[in-house]
Amino acid sequence: MATLLLLTQGGCGVFRDIVPRETDEPEGHARIQDNGELIIVGFSQIGSESIWRTANTASVERALTKEKGYFLISDNARQKQENQIKAIRSYISQRVDYIVFSPITEDGWDTVLEEARDAGIPVILMDRMANVDESLYATRICTDVTKEGEKAARWLEGDLKEKNRLHDDINIVVLQGTLGSSSELERTAGFESIAAQHGNWHILDRQTGDFTTAKGKEVMEQFLKTYADIDVVVSQNDDMTFGAIEAIEEAGLTTGVGGDIIIISFDAVRDALKLVQAGKINVDIECNPEQGEYLDMVIQKLERGEPLEKVYMVEEMVFTQRNVSGYLESRTY
Ligand code: AHR
Repeated sequence: MATLLLLTQGGCGVFRDIVPRETDEPEGHARIQDNGELIIVGFSQIGSESIWRTANTASVERALTKEKGYFLISDNARQKQENQIKAIRSYISQRVDYIVFSPITEDGWDTVLEEARDAGIPVILMDRMANVDESLYATRICTDVTKEGEKAARWLEGDLKEKNRLHDDINIVVLQGTLGSSSELERTAGFESIAAQHGNWHILDRQTGDFTTAKGKEVMEQFLKTYADIDVVVSQNDDMTFGAIEAIEEAGLTTGVGGDIIIISFDAVRDALKLVQAGKINVDIECNPEQGEYLDMVIQKLERGEPLEKVYMVEEMVFTQRNVSGYLESRTY
């Protein structure tokens, strides 16, 4: 299990406003600690767009089992915010004990989360951020996506320095994830905040590939038709990277270490790490999907009425050909 980092920055560390229900429980919803009954959790997942997402769902399912005292109700929103809102409303009407969800995009959650608050059901955000007042959710379990974008740019600086290309003109295209999602917004912002410090880095284009291989390939084909001299592809997840590499190779070019185009990817799923090892992806910035155990930890704290931090962030690494071998074997997704 990766280490959980507790963030206690200004004003974000205190759990308030939402407290576990004690006295107004409907029958049958009592806590496992009290009388052996199950804790009911309604979970709205975005979909199954990527290997990462499937691993994230599996992590939640492994953590919230009947043996551990949970009754998990899951819904796959198939990439639609309206489906997530529908699922959350149905959890409210079923009077679940907790609602967990990963918001597909940042905006548009106020009304439904106010409904959850009014029903007294604590909401836990997982993976992505919702742009709402923080009183509307109990806590957040996530990755530091801005930092992931920054790490990508810092790696590029180092690589160009090693190759004595720090002052060359560098043409960059960006395959973005789902537009408006915190993963896309923050990875873009993190990378571009450092890119802006380099007058010779030119971001030629950025288009969404929706975090999928098919769309990643399609967008990369378009980039290759439009721009003759691409030096770097920043692909905001591994699934899009697989599609981009296919498109680049079909165009007769090579990728990775010593190749025509530098590939920067995110997630670090097993199949991508194999490509890092093979030198086809230069660097993979990890986004850690193993968030289920932290969910369990947070729910147990709520059950005991303990204070929570407002944000829990999971730890993440950066993989290149130099360090990847030691991690490949233990990668399960
Ligand atoms: O929100 C996390 C992102 O969503 C992952 O990078 C991506 O693969 C997933 O679909």
